[in-house]
Amino acid sequence: MTEFESLGIVGSGIMGSGIAETAIDSGHEVVILARTPQSAQSVLRSVQASLSKRVEKGHKASSQTEEDLSRLSVTTEIADLSNCDLVIETVVEDISVKSRIINDLDVVCKPSTVLASNTSTIPLIELAAKTKRPEKVCGIHFFNPAPVMKLVEIVRTLVVSDETIQRARRFALECGKEPVEVSDRAGFIVNALLFPYLNNAIKMLEMNVASKEGIDTAMRGGCGFPMGPFALLDLVGLDTALAILNSLHEEFGDPNYSPAPLLKRMVAAKMLGRKSRAGFYSYEN
Ligand SMILES: NC(=O)c1ccc[n+]([C@@H]2O[C@H](COP(=O)([O-])OP(=O)(O)OC[C@H]3O[C@@H](n4cnc5c(N)ncnc54)[C@H](O)[C@@H]3O)[C@@H](O)[C@H]2O)c1
Repeated sequence: MTEFESLGIVGSGIMGSGIAETAIDSGHEVVILARTPQSAQSVLRSVQASLSKRVEKGHKASSQTEEDLSRLSVTTEIADLSNCDLVIETVVEDISVKSRIINDLDVVCKPSTVLASNTSTIPLIELAAKTKRPEKVCGIHFFNPAPVMKLVEIVRTLVVSDETIQRARRFALECGKEPVEVSDRAGFIVNALLFPYLNNAIKMLEMNVASKEGIDTAMRGGCGFPMGPFALLDLVGLDTALAILNSLHEEFGDPNYSPAPLLKRMVAAKMLGRKSRAGFYSYEN
């Protein structure tokens, strides 16, 4: 028995796919809601490919992979999430899109369903207020790549119940993660501290202090970080990074959160990082 017998995930991008993989890997039944049949097939392929990589690296038995995949399904109909015990939304970091989705989920899902968001910066209370079950709405913030990163921030709003928070914590533990509870403040812990650093790295590049390769090498070698700021920005997705900085800047007004012009220009040019195969670096596939 798991804390939540069935899990719904809304969104089939980087985080939707990573959280789905993490959850099936820990024995949960998962259904992913995608926008189109094409994106539904593409998220299935991406989970399959990621599991195969883990088999190749010897981190997983291939028989286990088949068993994991048998717990995963995809749909394009929100009604297919109605019986889920927990739904985590992982759509684009845009409050109007997330508000609409959480409201739709509230209408469709059974009354006991816990509704969670993987938002990086949007106030959870704003999403909770779109539902008739604000005591069952919280943040369950996984990190990228979700199957690898240990941390899950559990976000407590002013009105969420202790039971919801405890259930979310137990779910994160079942997924093999380390949950940390945090209050409902833009950026929570990690992004509030990380994004001034990433943003200032772009501003440093704009001022020609060093090349992007030089800055990445310096932060790996000088701070022991596993990757430099530009490799990390490409992994996060530059559109997501820009949305996070905009929310943080709106919440705190701190100039360190004011997005670097180059980041805005790159997003306008659709250079989004790994997911568009071009960002600060280029990617084959
Ligand atoms: N990328 C990261 O490193 C990271 C880490 C932690 C949390 N997050 C958060 O996870 C969420 C998703 O980020 P991601 O990196 O997976 O983004 P992504 O760009 O890879 O995926 C976004 C998803 O949103 C869907 N979407 C876009 N517009 C939509 C609309 N109008 N209606 C319905 N669905 C729509 C897309 O189809 C896609 O499935 C964001 O809230 C982000 O802040 C991202």
